[in-house]
Amino acid sequence: SIPVITIDGPTASGKGTVAQRVAEALHFHYLDSGALYRLTALSALRARVALDDEPALAQTAAGMRPSFRDGNVLLDDVDVSTDIRAEEVGNAASKIAALPAVRRALVDLQLRFRQAPGLIADGRDMGTVIFPDACLKVFLTASAEARAERRYKQLIDKGFSANINDLLKDLNERDARDANRAVAPLRPAEGAYLLDTSNLTVNQAVEQVLGWYAA
Ligand code: CDP
Repeated sequence: SIPVITIDGPTASGKGTVAQRVAEALHFHYLDSGALYRLTALSALRARVALDDEPALAQTAAGMRPSFRDGNVLLDDVDVSTDIRAEEVGNAASKIAALPAVRRALVDLQLRFRQAPGLIADGRDMGTVIFPDACLKVFLTASAEARAERRYKQLIDKGFSANINDLLKDLNERDARDANRAVAPLRPAEGAYLLDTSNLTVNQAVEQVLGWYAA
């Protein structure tokens, strides 16, 4: 079957950057599953769907037709790559991701990314729920301080304003929500390799994942 590498881990751990670089190196497809939760959140915020209206949110998720082109995310042919990165959207995404019907509504969309020659899937439950038969599972972590700094740089680069202390608080809240929710809580998949990137460069983290894949 088509090989899948899963990279799961907490918010702002650097998963996305590492996963994209591994995908480039192997010429694999790349699934940013967090973007699907962010797209659902953005669509819901725009349509003024309440963030606790589970059936309406699931319908929002199931009705989206996002497309992914050259690292950009489009919704109804409009590039929303920057919009979905707003902290407000990230917080809303983290809340609606705890709703089982929303998660179910996004399963098929995620499975369709598995195409030859292979897939790197990045998220919270890629190895535990969506691709349990992945040939390599990685659980990527970093200290809260390292993650807050990365998120800060990411937001500033995108032209948003940010405050390190607020971000640290957000990170801790999101970690707690991801780890404690009843459905698909964040935890390392069985057989996952743990990779703490607090003191690693992106290159070192990428080399480690490629090394595990080749072994
Ligand atoms: O890294 P960050 O939390 O900022 O964002 P993300 O990876 O883009 O994901 C946005 C939110 O979606 C996260 O806060 C998670 O709660 C949720 N998510 C999830 O529940 N399952 C996934 N496979 C991916 C993301």
